[in-house]
Amino acid sequence: MVLLTLGVLVVSFQQDKTVKESIARGKEAYALYCQNCHMEDGKGQEGVFPPLGKSDFMQRPIADLINIVLKGQSGAITVNGVSYNNIMPAQDYLTSEQIADILNYTRNSWGNRLKGMVTPEQVNHLRE
Ligand code: HEC
Repeated sequence: MVLLTLGVLVVSFQQDKTVKESIARGKEAYALYCQNCHMEDGKGQEGVFPPLGKSDFMQRPIADLINIVLKGQSGAITVNGVSYNNIMPAQDYLTSEQIADILNYTRNSWGNRLKGMVTPEQVNHLRE
């Protein structure tokens, strides 16, 4: 029982460390590949580039977010009550690890604390 509890503690500690490292890498990749449009503070530009920080859209399932990065997003959408009808180009040149890292960063920044970790395997699975 003690061993089991210790085992669970070690596993959750490891996961915690993995998430933290992924978020740190994601911050750097975000600055290179997303920040131009969505801004350093994740607020975007109202009516042009939707916000990622405290965005109701970001609360969608992880698969939806991965697909936006892999396939891009265009057409009319509403984010936090504001309409957008613009084009985000596909960012599928990024590696699956970069996409997972960026999403872990955005899902845990600017007031976002979304449950669950994004993994490169999930991204691979959605690539065509
Ligand atoms: C060239 C500008 C541009 C870049 C670079 C860009 N986006 Fe976007 N993004 C947009 C636009 C514009 C929309 C809204 C498209 C629409 O109106 O349908 C959008 C929408 C989104 C959405 C859904 C709406 C929301 O606010 O939650 C997410 C999530 C997102 N982008 C994440 C990212 C991530 C992560 C990156 C970096 C890998 C990135 N974007 C790079 C322009 C960009």
